[in-house]
Amino acid sequence: MTAEKMHQLFQLTFGADKKPEIYFAPGRVNLIGEHTDYNGGHVFPCALTIGTYGAITTRDDRVIRFYSANFPGIVETSLDDLTPDKEAGWTNYPKGVMWAFEKRGYNIPCGMDILIYGDIPNGSGLSSSASLEVLTGLMLKDTFGFEDLTMQDLALIGQYSENNFNGMNCGIMDQFASAMGKQDNAIFLDTATLNYTYAPVKLSDARIVITNSKVKHSLVSSAYNDRRRECEEALKMLQTVVDIQTLGDLNEEQFEKYKDAITDPICQKRAKHAVYENQRTIRAVEALNAGNLEEFGRLINASHVSLRDDYETSCEETDLLASLAWEIPGVLGSRITGGGFGGCTVSIVKNDAIDTFTEKIGPAYEKATGHKAEFYIVDIGDGAHKLS
Ligand code: GLA
Repeated sequence: MTAEKMHQLFQLTFGADKKPEIYFAPGRVNLIGEHTDYNGGHVFPCALTIGTYGAITTRDDRVIRFYSANFPGIVETSLDDLTPDKEAGWTNYPKGVMWAFEKRGYNIPCGMDILIYGDIPNGSGLSSSASLEVLTGLMLKDTFGFEDLTMQDLALIGQYSENNFNGMNCGIMDQFASAMGKQDNAIFLDTATLNYTYAPVKLSDARIVITNSKVKHSLVSSAYNDRRRECEEALKMLQTVVDIQTLGDLNEEQFEKYKDAITDPICQKRAKHAVYENQRTIRAVEALNAGNLEEFGRLINASHVSLRDDYETSCEETDLLASLAWEIPGVLGSRITGGGFGGCTVSIVKNDAIDTFTEKIGPAYEKATGHKAEFYIVDIGDGAHKLS
């Protein structure tokens, strides 16, 4: 998609005399550090070059008109009616961000016409909703001159709207990656403090390959919220024996020492994942920075095993994709990425093994599951920005 094309689509939809401004916010893939972001741990995501595009003009009334090139049909609402509505579908995300702006005291003075186009595959777990939230935040900031808001603020507002308007208790990772991404770098983010550094993703003769399982099991957000609650319960039990603020405050040895305080076995497994995954993430970034790709890949594989056995957010399909990948020489690491229960795996694959990767996994996966996996060899892009 180009800025010119967005312009044309906007004029076709809302009138030939309109002169919209055009913006883009990327999706993300998380290399390692899964389900650690609401446990005070570290994450290591990067922004993609696919994402969500937006075109916007203001209106002189309080009406908001949304149009998505992905789900055609104009959806109309008003600044005076920013409430979640099942019927409103995808527009609940931008509406939620507008609601969150108002809540923070940033009054939106007038209505808008907004056209959206996204090229993130639907339901793939590559953060199409977070990119739509960050995109909306950036459009509002720019259009209405809310200059004091930083990109980090836009990430936090996006997360706030997702938690409180759309009822998904997500952490900060996805919005942060979409807002703060940097070309060719992953973001090593400490979610307890929001301190972060960029780490160049130098894979020498390898690439990042995303494999889309094409399955999304239902009740994703309720299963996600369950995990979050189980971790909170585990933390409470641990706090009776050790002085910590989050699960991310513990290393493996400390966890083993105190784990019996977590009397519920399910909560204990969830907490184990959160603690070990955080330590794996720290080590993985060290390994990548040191150019030790074998170790980086080994930790990625260990992350999958932990998500499969202890956190139980993987599923048959993504387990199959990962284990097929592990058998291929030249695959440094492979694991489920994102919230889970379907979606994608992320693999680090040597260039000369990429053809074998797709040729072996595609047919074997389809034979076993009936689904046609999709493969994306991805580049790491910049965070949200204006295009025109
Ligand atoms: C989803 C959430 C994130 C994070 C991941 C799991 O993508 O939106 O905040 O918790 O799941 O790592």
